[in-house]
Amino acid sequence: MKIVILGAGGRLGAALLREYREKYDIAGFNHAQLDLASLNDVRGKLGAMNFDVLINAAGFTNVDACDTERDRAFLINAEAPGVLAAICSAKGAKLIHFSTDYVFDGEKRTPYTEEDQANPISLYGESKLAGEKNVLAAENGHLVVRVSWVFGPDRPSFVDAMIKRAQQDEKIDAISDKFSTPTYTHDVARMLPQFFDRGIEDGIWHFANAGKCSWQEYAQWALDCCRDAGIPLKARTVGALKLSEMKNWAARRPVYSVLSTAKYTELKGTPPRAWREAVADYITHFYSKK
Ligand SMILES: NC(=O)c1ccc[n+]([C@@H]2O[C@H](COP(=O)([O-])OP(=O)(O)OC[C@H]3O[C@@H](n4cnc5c(N)ncnc54)[C@H](OP(=O)(O)O)[C@@H]3O)[C@@H](O)[C@H]2O)c1
Repeated sequence: MKIVILGAGGRLGAALLREYREKYDIAGFNHAQLDLASLNDVRGKLGAMNFDVLINAAGFTNVDACDTERDRAFLINAEAPGVLAAICSAKGAKLIHFSTDYVFDGEKRTPYTEEDQANPISLYGESKLAGEKNVLAAENGHLVVRVSWVFGPDRPSFVDAMIKRAQQDEKIDAISDKFSTPTYTHDVARMLPQFFDRGIEDGIWHFANAGKCSWQEYAQWALDCCRDAGIPLKARTVGALKLSEMKNWAARRPVYSVLSTAKYTELKGTPPRAWREAVADYITHFYSKK
């Protein structure tokens, strides 16, 4: 099976490339190698290649920058995925396109299912939702995989920033009234391959580790794991910040965006592992060695 990964320099794309390199015939494009803003380039380069699965982990992921760069957000997050879907449809290949929990408005208090109405409250979310629609409108049954709070070793994320701050400062804090679920790139890489086959139902799938937390709980758990792993930190506890205190954010964020993985669990027979286990695994493997 020949697989092409876009966003190969990003947190998720790099992880997929690394984890699949031994098992599949893989090619990856990072931003410099293929710019999704150049649609003709995308058509030219990908149209000339043979592959069975195209994984799009590239995107304009800076939520605040999307708010001020609307056209660019829609070009990269919405128009380009539509072009990718058309290229795949023409070849009989499958597109697996990554999307986000930020397509939801955050008004629910139980996990969002794939059937729940999306209602984005930021331009990032709007552009990603438009991308989902463009992908699903193409013929030949492609897949949209929504993920939340992605972390992993290939590019620093919230959890790495918190650990770094705890190494430097005695007092750190994080938002306590915004909830979702951390999702480990390694676990996404393990969940995805069964979707490479044609037999699996097309459409939207939610991938996340199990459970839910606030950013404060997430950061506290990371610090606890570091302590257990013998990683020296100056801060021991994470104080609470309110979402309303984040005055420097340009874009609104959903206060609750937990993704239900019930559909995946039904397919697989077992749920994804708990986020605490995944974070502990990450810290043990990638911080203990530092
Ligand atoms: N991170 C999260 O918490 C999170 C949450 C929910 C959903 N997601 C979704 O998961 C997917 C992967 O995100 P990630 O966490 O891996 O983000 P990431 O680390 O920011 O990766 C995105 C990649 O896309 C590349 N990119 C940006 N503009 C591009 C363009 N015009 N052409 C080609 N490549 C371009 C970036 O390259 P440069 O950095 O060089 O620009 C980067 O390597 C995205 O679809 C994102 O929306 C992420």
